[in-house]
Amino acid sequence: MYFLLPLLLFSLTSAASLPSPDGPYNVGFSQHIVPHITPNDPTPGPGNALLVHVYFPTYDTNRSSPVPYIDTKSATIWGDALELPRGLLDKLTTDLRRDASFLSAPTGHPTVLFSPAAGFNAWMYYGLLANLASHGYTVVAIDHPGEPPVVRWPNGTDTIGLSIDVDFTANLTRQVHEFRVTDLAAVLAWFPTFVHNHQAPFNTSKFLALGHSMGGSASVTFAPGHPSVEAALNLDGGFSQHQTVVTDVGVPVLLMSRINHTTRSDPSWAEFQEHQTGWWEHIAVYGSEHLDYCDIATWNEALGLAPLVQEQFGPIGGSKITQIARKYVGDFFGWVEGREKGVIASPSLEWREAVYVNGSDFDHGYSQEQKD
Ligand SMILES: *[C@@H]1O[C@H](CO)[C@@H](O)[C@H](O)[C@H]1NC(C)=O
Ligand SMILES: *[C@@H]1O[C@H](CO)[C@@H](O)[C@H](O)[C@H]1NC(C)=O
Ligand SMILES: *[C@@H]1O[C@H](CO)[C@@H](O)[C@H](O)[C@H]1NC(C)=O
Ligand SMILES: *[C@@H]1O[C@H](CO)[C@@H](O)[C@H](O)[C@H]1NC(C)=O
Ligand SMILES: *[C@@H]1O[C@H](CO)[C@@H](O)[C@H](O)[C@H]1NC(C)=O
Ligand SMILES: *[C@@H]1O[C@H](CO)[C@@H](O)[C@H](O)[C@H]1NC(C)=O
Repeated sequence: MYFLLPLLLFSLTSAASLPSPDGPYNVGFSQHIVPHITPNDPTPGPGNALLVHVYFPTYDTNRSSPVPYIDTKSATIWGDALELPRGLLDKLTTDLRRDASFLSAPTGHPTVLFSPAAGFNAWMYYGLLANLASHGYTVVAIDHPGEPPVVRWPNGTDTIGLSIDVDFTANLTRQVHEFRVTDLAAVLAWFPTFVHNHQAPFNTSKFLALGHSMGGSASVTFAPGHPSVEAALNLDGGFSQHQTVVTDVGVPVLLMSRINHTTRSDPSWAEFQEHQTGWWEHIAVYGSEHLDYCDIATWNEALGLAPLVQEQFGPIGGSKITQIARKYVGDFFGWVEGREKGVIASPSLEWREAVYVNGSDFDHGYSQEQKD
């Protein structure tokens, strides 16, 4: 993938913060290796383990050591792709507290399982995932070592993966999508023992599946057949031709997309919608493009660079799309838990970029009527 960047050259000496989480909790962070065999793994990775990043609520205010946002090898690879001077991305900082204390009681929210875009790392969604944790959710974000350009293990060793500009052929896409779905199932199966061993107050009975791009498709594909998964949310991901589209998912599904991601431009979304008998809804965000649903657009803002305006990034900008993604992902999860009135409860001037496109209760108008 290529990003041609209109770069404002400048010198940045201090650390640059990504959008801070806005919830009542601080955010703890830990990483764990999940043993899991991927038969015929098409990536250069070991095929015998996953790396998960756990974001969770904490009251700890102390930070023994800052958690870097990006590892040094990834910073070089992504920085070069974005035509940024070497060393700049290494300055991005997080508000995470490594291995922080758990809360003394559960917050009552389901656990969120997250799958990133193809070739992307799970840490590239800090703006959204850490924010969910600051609102009381435990988020388990899954890396498949060998698929993104670099995965850094907790011991500091790197696994070099597919090239950043790898051609995702139909064959590779099918194979990666398949292992993404089984990776989600593997982490779901691993989680209860992990929680038990760590005596963590995390929810092991109810889950929400969330993903971007291929990870969004994988999240929806994974949900049926796992009764503990209460809902799935796909951020702008076209569905795999091989699995999802002909399945009636059976739990609520939110599709959140760039404005031009429609049932006409993506027949997999039309086919998906035709096969659902349960609740689903599609909302689109004016000014957003496909890669605005990860952190990249916020990197530029944090570093004081000109916004990325090109094919995969829209004019909306990193901080605005982060706010919008936080709001609607949070509203959807809240609605699934019975808290909120609906995903787009009513037209709003404040959130006017987000529009209701279609949904299972289209005939009844806005979705708040569904649960009232
Ligand atoms: C932070 O402080 C809490 C309580 O003061 C302590 O239990 C915990 O171990 C500390 N965490 C770290 C990472 O230093
Ligand atoms: C898990 O989530 C469900 C709601 O989805 C909630 O009813 C339950 O209390 C939660 N359990 C824990 C231990 O947080
Ligand atoms: C670091 O951890 C990875 C993953 O468990 C392992 O494959 C690798 O051998 C370890 N490296 C060292 C130097 O211990
Ligand atoms: C798809 O990938 C598999 C495994 O790498 C390989 O055996 C097969 O030949 C590939 N098929 C095509 C059509 O490239
Ligand atoms: C969206 O699609 C319309 C109609 O095809 C096109 O005119 C417009 O340029 C597209 N917008 C973006 C941001 O791609
Ligand atoms: C909206 O969804 C309904 C229900 O699936 C479908 O019948 C209708 O054709 C869709 N409308 C558009 C404009 O896509």
